Amino acid sequence: MKDVTVDGSRLRSTLEELARFGATASGVSRTSFSAADAEARAWLRAEVEASGLSLRTDGIGNLFVTVAPAGATDAPAVWTGSHIDSVPDGGRFDGALGSMAALEVVRRLTEADVPLRRPVTMVVFADEEGCYHHLLGSTALVRPFPPDELAALRGRDDDLLVDALGGLGWDVAAAGRTAVPAGSVHAFVELHIEQGAVLETSSADIGVVTSIVGMGGGRLEFTGRADHAGTTPMAMRRDPLRGAGEFLAQLPDITASISETAVATCGIIGVEPGGANVVPALARLQLDFRDVRREAIEDLETALVAAASDAAGRHGLEVTHTRDSITDPAPLDSGLQDLIESVAAGRGHSTRLMPSGAGHDAQNMSRLAPTGMIFIPSTGGRSHSPAEHSSWADVEAGANVLLGTVIALATR
Ligand code: GLV
Ligand code: MN
Ligand code: MN
Repeated sequence: MKDVTVDGSRLRSTLEELARFGATASGVSRTSFSAADAEARAWLRAEVEASGLSLRTDGIGNLFVTVAPAGATDAPAVWTGSHIDSVPDGGRFDGALGSMAALEVVRRLTEADVPLRRPVTMVVFADEEGCYHHLLGSTALVRPFPPDELAALRGRDDDLLVDALGGLGWDVAAAGRTAVPAGSVHAFVELHIEQGAVLETSSADIGVVTSIVGMGGGRLEFTGRADHAGTTPMAMRRDPLRGAGEFLAQLPDITASISETAVATCGIIGVEPGGANVVPALARLQLDFRDVRREAIEDLETALVAAASDAAGRHGLEVTHTRDSITDPAPLDSGLQDLIESVAAGRGHSTRLMPSGAGHDAQNMSRLAPTGMIFIPSTGGRSHSPAEHSSWADVEAGANVLLGTVIALATR
């Protein structure tokens, strides 16, 4: 079979086009199920259909495009893809790269008439960035959300997921019917930017991911009492931010007590009712915590909740905790690591084996099928910021390693 490669200039222009949706001065704000996300989804459908392919959306918003050889349409498929939602005020490459490279893969397989022995499916996972639940779409593929868990999921603006899905005109009941049948995925491969500086500082072209960190999350609500900011003496207040602030100051010590690798972040804080001259009645903290072992994440969660409860007690507050399910740390498939290394070497690229500290849908997919990830360098290691950047040469190189890997998996 002759060498099939991606169309680098088309890949660049699809990435640039996608970056129009939710565009900021130099990045994108395209949080899941926002108007910008809906526009990007509509644009993607048109792109896919213009290529003579069709796009399917499942109940939670995962998108699928399949190319299948005649006579083997039901064989387990090779999946590749990523996500097109972004963090608020994020960059243009996180998720977009692996999604648009997957589009390029299905386009090239069709155009070059690659003799597939099994289907290849492009997937775009919903809400990877966890506006409603970390890795929402891929979690729903491996473990569909029971109706009450689904009904309780809230976004960063405290809106309900079911309202967001209903607002898009989707059948909310279908959001619980997203499971992928066991054995239907042959393998999954995701291309992504590294989001750190290891490749850049070690001058390696391609990162071959060995494992992905596990993640927990949830919400703490400290409740006190609203009072007048001028007339209520400091000693007479039940200010929930005092408890929340004291709790947050302890995060470094709490994580250090668990392991050297544990991290915990509060990236969203809200107070109610929210007036400069009102002692708040409620303080809400959204937490994200990670480690490389499941037991450590469980211990971290227990320690965080205990510290929140102690801080609340010291200030005469109540605290409630709503937990997100834990996404397990995932070792990736060693056979796929070897394959990615050999495809990259065959294209003249240096490689480096490395773990991922960022979460990815690949960690859920690894529970369904052998899974691999390909990283390309991130300039300055910057990510989750408009400063996110990778060179077009690296984008094309990564996409060609992805295409070569998918072809190897789908033709043998
Ligand atoms: C995804 O970007 C994550 O690591 O949260
Ligand atoms: Mn990502
Ligand atoms: Mn991200």
